Amino acid sequence: MENQVKRLSTILCRARDGLAIIAVAVAVAAPVPLHAEATPPVPLAILKQRYHRPDAVPFPPNNPFSAAKADLGLSLFFDPRLSGPATMSCGTCHNPSMAWKDGLAVGVGSDAKPLARATPPIMNLAWGELMMWDGRKDSLEDQATGPMIAAAEMNATLPEIMSRLSRMPLYRDKFQSAFGDEKITPERVSAAIATFERTVVSGKAPFDHWIDGDEAAIGDAAKRGFVLFNGPANCAACHSGWRFTDDGFHDIGLASTDPGRGAQLPGVASLMHAFKTPTLRNIDQRAPYMHDGSVKTLAAVMRHYATGFLQRPSLSAEMHRLALSNQDVTDLVAFMHTLTSQDPAIKLPTLPTTEEEG
Ligand code: HEC
Ligand code: HEC
Repeated sequence: MENQVKRLSTILCRARDGLAIIAVAVAVAAPVPLHAEATPPVPLAILKQRYHRPDAVPFPPNNPFSAAKADLGLSLFFDPRLSGPATMSCGTCHNPSMAWKDGLAVGVGSDAKPLARATPPIMNLAWGELMMWDGRKDSLEDQATGPMIAAAEMNATLPEIMSRLSRMPLYRDKFQSAFGDEKITPERVSAAIATFERTVVSGKAPFDHWIDGDEAAIGDAAKRGFVLFNGPANCAACHSGWRFTDDGFHDIGLASTDPGRGAQLPGVASLMHAFKTPTLRNIDQRAPYMHDGSVKTLAAVMRHYATGFLQRPSLSAEMHRLALSNQDVTDLVAFMHTLTSQDPAIKLPTLPTTEEEG
């Protein structure tokens, strides 16, 4: 029910975009002039309050946190036996050494063939709403078995995976600790993986220390970038809140012909080519950028927003040509660099190795 409401509000919100776009299409405005010393649209102190980090990670009532479940989820996430050929785990693509992504333009499946879209990071998703670039999954639980059984990704079957796991005494123990008995089911596998994923939270970055009052935590260029981001460059219209995403779907005018969320909700014109707003946390660790990996650097992303996007009926009404000076680009990029945290290395699990006879 809650998800239906979310989905509906996304549709309504995008439908408004659809109306506003008519005006934009008629008068493709001259680039909005920017100034590095632009004043913030609202007092800086109030603006900063919008970016405070939450104190605790939320877990849903139907899958509450337990240390045993998170520990099991960690093992499953990094276990290649969840793929048909037993060569690829979730962590192969969502690699913690690469900011939970893979450094590639698009993911590569277990048969070494490229997928249609880039691997998104599985970070700060405890606060996420709809999952995937096109929002086709309702929750982390709903998402988890998808890649296992997708032929182009891990190419396994659920009975095959359940029987592999059931043959390992250590897994039976882990399911016992997490769920009270040894039964191994796809629902339990999903619940454990989702619990682990919710524990993956990016740590405090220099930006957060600045928000908390340490003026020396970030430089002047980044401070000017923050003002641009929230003011004339209009980035915060979509990259809002401490995760820098509104969890909405927008067409930002990339050349890709992928229909994105439009394929999920055909008939809503403004959702054509609309993709989920990515988080900007640790963004400088995750090149190349966009759902198709088509943009190689943050400066190139800025050039896209300035003048590089396509005008088409589905383009978000929040997209305006921007007269970004070189200094503005430097400042916005400097600001984005301050969103990167130095997180402690994740301790990889020791995976079960012994199988029973027969
Ligand atoms: C072959 C590479 C690959 C493997 C293996 C893989 N993923 Fe992904 N993952 C992707 C890609 C690509 C997407 C985006 C697909 C799309 O949106 O259409 C994605 C999306 C996701 C998302 C949605 C993130 C968001 O922000 O919406 C989650 C969560 C996720 N994967 C978890 C997992 C889990 C759990 C596993 C293991 C069971 C896994 N992935 C295995 C490549 C991979
Ligand atoms: C209309 C909403 C919207 C606005 C305005 C907007 N963005 Fe985005 N941004 C998105 C969406 C949606 C994507 C992903 C698009 C895709 O892959 O198709 C994205 C992608 C990005 C990426 C790449 C992220 C990644 O993980 O690949 C960066 C960086 C970025 N935006 C920064 C900015 C900055 C800086 C501004 C202001 C100059 C801005 N955005 C304005 C919605 C928006």
